[in-house]
Amino acid sequence: MIFYFSGTGNSKFIAEQLAKILEDEIFSINDFYKNHFYTGTSGSSGIISSGPYIFVSPTYAWRLPKIVQKFIENVNFTKNQAAYFIQTCGSEVGNSAHYAKRLCDQVGLKYMGLTAIVMPENYLALFPTPDQEESLELIRKALQKVPAIAETIRKQQMLEVEPELTRLGLLSHLVNPLFYPFVVKAKKFHYTAKCIGCGKCAEVCPLNNVKLKNNKPTWGKNCTHCMACIAYCPVQAIEYGKVSRKRQRYTLEKTLQATDLENTEQSD
Ligand SMILES: Cc1cc2nc3c(=O)[nH]c(=O)nc-3n(C[C@H](O)[C@H](O)[C@H](O)COP(=O)(O)O)c2cc1C
Ligand code: SF4
Ligand code: SF4
Repeated sequence: MIFYFSGTGNSKFIAEQLAKILEDEIFSINDFYKNHFYTGTSGSSGIISSGPYIFVSPTYAWRLPKIVQKFIENVNFTKNQAAYFIQTCGSEVGNSAHYAKRLCDQVGLKYMGLTAIVMPENYLALFPTPDQEESLELIRKALQKVPAIAETIRKQQMLEVEPELTRLGLLSHLVNPLFYPFVVKAKKFHYTAKCIGCGKCAEVCPLNNVKLKNNKPTWGKNCTHCMACIAYCPVQAIEYGKVSRKRQRYTLEKTLQATDLENTEQSD
């Protein structure tokens, strides 16, 4: 079974490509949270799969996103089942593999390795995002990596990260613990006069952290900085402090619109 968490579509896209090749089922961790399946109680939900568990997610501060970690900690998985990790990233995953293995040991899954796929950077609250052309090129390269990953999983071999994508490994240990308490907050999000009250921001927030009041968004405290609200707003009416004003809103869907990249690659 393939589980994905995705803010702006990259990880969902990779999960879908893998599912096509492996003819495997997909499970959305976004929907799991959005629909309140998660009760926060250990052992509250059981998920049975005859094949390996494959987790596809973005990289947040050089590790698995905390929301994915919590999901794995709190769902009742079949013990000793193989678990594979595929992290999309803007540039590198550092020493994320160390923490994925530790998580598997903690919950009784059999760690089968982690690999990384570079995709367009989506973290516009902190970094510039690539333009359309650059994004397409990155997605094209990323797609080419998927068949080999699927083959490794099919052969029940270990996944590995390319050494150059493990750089800045120390940041997984040093920066990640500070990242959530000091950086991951919703208070800098605000709407501008462009807002048309469509509700898309509330619809796409996996944590139901955006609510419309008088047809305008308000942000609560349960934010994981996935960038979905700001990136999917159809009229670019959401800003993050002042830094986002000149930055492109990246989403995979917008980038793929008007291209037949997916179909071309699949039919090759
Ligand atoms: C909160 C946050 C933290 C991030 N941290 C990293 C990181 O440590 N290393 C990296 O290469 N990319 C990082 N990124 C970029 C994303 O991992 C990357 O763009 C990913 O493909 C987004 O996937 P998604 O569209 O499925 O959400 C970060 C993005 C966000 C939103
Ligand atoms: S998605 Fe944008 S336009 Fe729609 S309600 Fe949210 S801020 Fe307003
Ligand atoms: S408020 Fe926005 S950035 Fe925060 S979790 Fe929801 S969609 Fe993601």
